[in-house]
Amino acid sequence: MKWIDKLTKTRLRMFESSTGQSHVTEEDRFLFARPLAKHNLVIIGTGTIGQEHMRVAAMLGRARVHGIFDTQEHSLDSAEKNFKKHSSDPLVRYADLHTACNDPAADALMICTPNYTHFEVLKVAMASGKPIFLEKPMATDLHDAAAIVDLSASYSAFIQIGLQYRYKAQYVEAFHEALERRSLGDVKTISVSEHRPPFLDKVGQWNKFSRFSGGTLVEKCCHYFDLINLLAQGRPARVFASGGQAVNFVDFEKDGERSDIEDNAFVIVDYANGVRANFTLNMFCPDFDEEMIIVGDEGKLIAKENFNFQHQTESEISVEVLKGELGISKKSIVGYTRPVEQSGHHGSTYYEHIAFVDQLEGKVVDCATAMQGMWAMIVASAAQHSMADGQVVDVEEFIGSQGLANLLA
Ligand SMILES: NC(=O)c1ccc[n+]([C@@H]2O[C@H](COP(=O)([O-])OP(=O)(O)OC[C@H]3O[C@@H](n4cnc5c(N)ncnc54)[C@H](O)[C@@H]3O)[C@@H](O)[C@H]2O)c1
Repeated sequence: MKWIDKLTKTRLRMFESSTGQSHVTEEDRFLFARPLAKHNLVIIGTGTIGQEHMRVAAMLGRARVHGIFDTQEHSLDSAEKNFKKHSSDPLVRYADLHTACNDPAADALMICTPNYTHFEVLKVAMASGKPIFLEKPMATDLHDAAAIVDLSASYSAFIQIGLQYRYKAQYVEAFHEALERRSLGDVKTISVSEHRPPFLDKVGQWNKFSRFSGGTLVEKCCHYFDLINLLAQGRPARVFASGGQAVNFVDFEKDGERSDIEDNAFVIVDYANGVRANFTLNMFCPDFDEEMIIVGDEGKLIAKENFNFQHQTESEISVEVLKGELGISKKSIVGYTRPVEQSGHHGSTYYEHIAFVDQLEGKVVDCATAMQGMWAMIVASAAQHSMADGQVVDVEEFIGSQGLANLLA
């Protein structure tokens, strides 16, 4: 992958921020000099991920968080307070979405609001003509996702989707081995699993209801379907899924409405090119584990991430290539620097920001496009549909039945 800007200067963050170096004035900072922030960002939605983007932008330093907008005052207060730990830059607070999107001082907009608001917020944001970052999943249903793809095709600026797992260290390495080095030969099967604790609390608890989130496989697992689509290098043809709500939020109610989100699922995806994939989800585990196993006709790769937050031990992230007698096998511990890993999503958000800022500077980058975001949603939505009616979903028929056959053109 070519997304790492080789010109990005190696940072000596530990020294930069150590008290023993605090007497060095700005004028004398050479090794510790921070990059000049050349772009102004406006963050729309300052909840969990909005604040992660603010933190990461400040850490990267190539773009400045200029302003924030949220419909909940408390989110703005919390974002402002937390941001002070990372930057002394003043923040503009906007009174409404329109003003936030059209501030002449802003160079780009980052939409970090709940899934069910994405399409409406995006339409207001697009009227500004500014480059846009839109969190995943791009929408809660395929109609809105397809409309976003259409709108983005004729948009004068770019839209980047927040599918950043492709920047996790183990997947960068896995993609390199499987797709560039071709260490595994032709990829035939891909198995991905996530075992993790339940969804966290959210503003208005939007993630407890499928009508706000799109369902668990859309909301959370679009990340994995994006990775699987990229690795399979083909179009999904058939999807079968079995899953449900076994443990989490079974007695959760809000305003008289019961939570209806799945907490476990098994998904099988057949690709038109013969690649087979499966995905396992379990969300009632004490810790986070992700695993990807790719097998080709010349080898096998195992990528693992274990984040044991209960014991607060360091994450273990590894990639293993096994070639039998066909070549060299190896196991590597992979990862980014500790501050980068700790900045959010094991450092993947940091590299997502590098891609975003690079795009702002006119570079060609490897980042999630609206079209890729939609294909991740197609697999996720087909899986949601299969879970609901217990049948195999033919992807072409599924898309056609929603009047979206043009997507296959
Ligand atoms: N890429 C990732 O790994 C990742 C991780 C977490 C969340 N997300 C995505 O980010 C989005 C936000 O998730 P979150 O976890 O930060 O949720 P959250 O509930 O913590 O924060 C959402 C914020 O948006 C605000 N908001 C709601 N409607 C709004 C509107 N119309 N205009 C402005 N602000 C509005 C809420 O008040 C809240 O402060 C979701 O789409 C989610 O799927 C992505």
